[in-house]
Amino acid sequence: MNKSATIILAALALMISPLAGARDATSRVQTLRAADAAAADQAPAARPYAGKAPGSQKPIARTFSTQPPLIPHAIEGFDEITLQSNPCLACHGPDNYKETKASRISDSHFKDRDGKMLPEVPAARYQCTTCHVPQADAKPLVENTFRGDVGTAAKTKK
Ligand code: HEC
Ligand code: HEC
Repeated sequence: MNKSATIILAALALMISPLAGARDATSRVQTLRAADAAAADQAPAARPYAGKAPGSQKPIARTFSTQPPLIPHAIEGFDEITLQSNPCLACHGPDNYKETKASRISDSHFKDRDGKMLPEVPAARYQCTTCHVPQADAKPLVENTFRGDVGTAAKTKK
């Protein structure tokens, strides 16, 4: 093959290969959101939270020892936590938990970042629903094989 023919062939190969690659890629790769990136977002419909009034629900088993327990009861009507009032503390706080038959917040909830005990719940723990979440009847959006370690931890502890 003479030199110019080789150059022409090489140039042709360069022109074709990106196109071939792109066609191949579109046939294999699928987007996770199942829609074109430029299309409007297909947000799922909002679901109501499950659970009845506090006092009638069973606690939900924890899946690892340091998990913030999930909220088993409904929180409609007392999910508005403001600077002046915290309805969660009105039931779970140390002054009222016996009366309301709610579990008392742990001592950990009174510690500041350095581990010093404070007389009141510090700001880092005040917004209860950042860590404790109510439940909804919803399938996981992405399949996963997560298994808690509480059972295993209990079995291996000697
Ligand atoms: C009217 C009282 C009341 C209010 C208000 C309330 N709770 Fe409860 N909570 C309870 C009771 C009682 C239980 C025990 C389960 C039951 O009987 O429903 C409970 C259970 C829980 C649990 C499970 C504890 C465990 O050990 O598994 C969490 C977490 C919780 N509540 C968080 C909250 C948060 C966060 C708020 C505020 C959004 C809140 N609760 C508001 C009374 C209340
Ligand atoms: C930064 C995350 C975080 C915030 C904010 C938080 N908690 Fe917790 N909570 C936890 C974790 C983690 C546990 C389990 C370990 C422990 O007891 O410290 C827990 C445990 C609890 C328990 C169960 C106690 C027990 O003895 O089993 C209750 C009830 C509770 N929290 C209520 C509340 C309330 C009410 C608020 C708001 C004033 C709140 N939590 C804010 C993380 C949090």
